[in-house]
Amino acid sequence: MPPTRIDVESADRTYPVFVAPGLVRDLARWLAEAGVGERRFVVSSPTVWAHHGDAVAAALPGAEPLLVPDGERAKNHRTLSRIYEWLIESGADRGSTVIAVGGGVIGDTVGFAAASYLRGVDLVQVPTTLLAQVDSAVGGKVGVNHPLGKNLIGAFHPPVAVIADTTLIETLPRRELRAGLYEVVKYGVIASRQLFDRIVTDLPKIFACEADVLWTIVAASCRIKADIVGADEREGDRRRVLNYGHTAGHALEAVTRYRRLRHGEAVAYGMLVAARLGVGRGLLDTQDQAALAELIGRMGPLPSVTDLPGGDVLDAMQRDKKVVAGRLHMVLPKGLGDTVIVDDVTPKEIRLALRSIGVR
Ligand SMILES: NC(=O)c1ccc[n+]([C@@H]2O[C@H](COP(=O)([O-])OP(=O)(O)OC[C@H]3O[C@@H](n4cnc5c(N)ncnc54)[C@H](O)[C@@H]3O)[C@@H](O)[C@H]2O)c1
Ligand SMILES: [Zn+2]
Repeated sequence: MPPTRIDVESADRTYPVFVAPGLVRDLARWLAEAGVGERRFVVSSPTVWAHHGDAVAAALPGAEPLLVPDGERAKNHRTLSRIYEWLIESGADRGSTVIAVGGGVIGDTVGFAAASYLRGVDLVQVPTTLLAQVDSAVGGKVGVNHPLGKNLIGAFHPPVAVIADTTLIETLPRRELRAGLYEVVKYGVIASRQLFDRIVTDLPKIFACEADVLWTIVAASCRIKADIVGADEREGDRRRVLNYGHTAGHALEAVTRYRRLRHGEAVAYGMLVAARLGVGRGLLDTQDQAALAELIGRMGPLPSVTDLPGGDVLDAMQRDKKVVAGRLHMVLPKGLGDTVIVDDVTPKEIRLALRSIGVR
């Protein structure tokens, strides 16, 4: 079966996202299909390379990779410098292509290196986590953290191709798989009841990494993200729906100092909070709210947040970058598969909604 091909429209060109099990075996072919030149510089991490380096190396003979650490703590200027140094020493030029093989941290960091090296060289994303396949590798946002805040230094640098081999996900620790799956649930809630129902029905198959099911949900997610960012690359109205679950989610991550929750886990809580707000406003019926809560419950336990003071979480929400002219914009579900953006949620409503996830 040929891979699913999704064409993403970006400001100055359109790039393909290929999704299918086993794509890495024919990596050279898909790179050629996307018009990628022969001078290639592969960057990955020791963890990813230990699992999949042989397969990538077999598909791209002669490509000697640079391995840099991943994980949120490595998404910084030091890692970036190592990548620049290696590119300079290896003689990478304007016609070279940098290939990021890894999760969202590798994709964002290597992507920013590609965006800035020689004022920008071509980038290919080969995402290896579920989160990276459905989210970070698509859309063109790249960047690193600054000691003063997450993702503060970055750029728009759309890749020339994304090659999402869904079998790479099989080696992910269960918690990482779930962290990515919460973002897939998000796509269902904001844009596709069918995708939501599919996750409900096929959850055991997803956890068993059944090839067809992973293929289906990754392709469906990429299609939704491509649709949204294609219409609105730089975060005007349309792209904002992707922030469903992220206002409270980011606040919970910040209040717990990015140590307790995986990003996706925070988004799971955030989706529940926004759903509670939606119910309060008569946008979402309690049956759909219960379906979402039940699915998130079935996916596994979330780290507890019952010790967090509601006032701190509320403050962090109001500091979020989605506050425009002093008003907190929130994406609320309108049924399952549609959303509305509101800018008039009151602190009282938020405190009430936070209580529904156990925040004091
Ligand atoms: N650019 C965007 O639009 C965008 C969107 C969402 C998230 N992000 C960013 O993505 C990052 C999170 O990405 P992530 O969740 O992929 O984290 P990550 O890159 O840190 O990967 C998580 C862990 O999984 C390991 N890993 C990766 N692939 C593996 C595999 N196939 N088998 C086994 N282990 C594997 C990694 O070594 C790491 O320990 C955050 O920094 C976030 O800001 C960016
Ligand atoms: Zn997210």
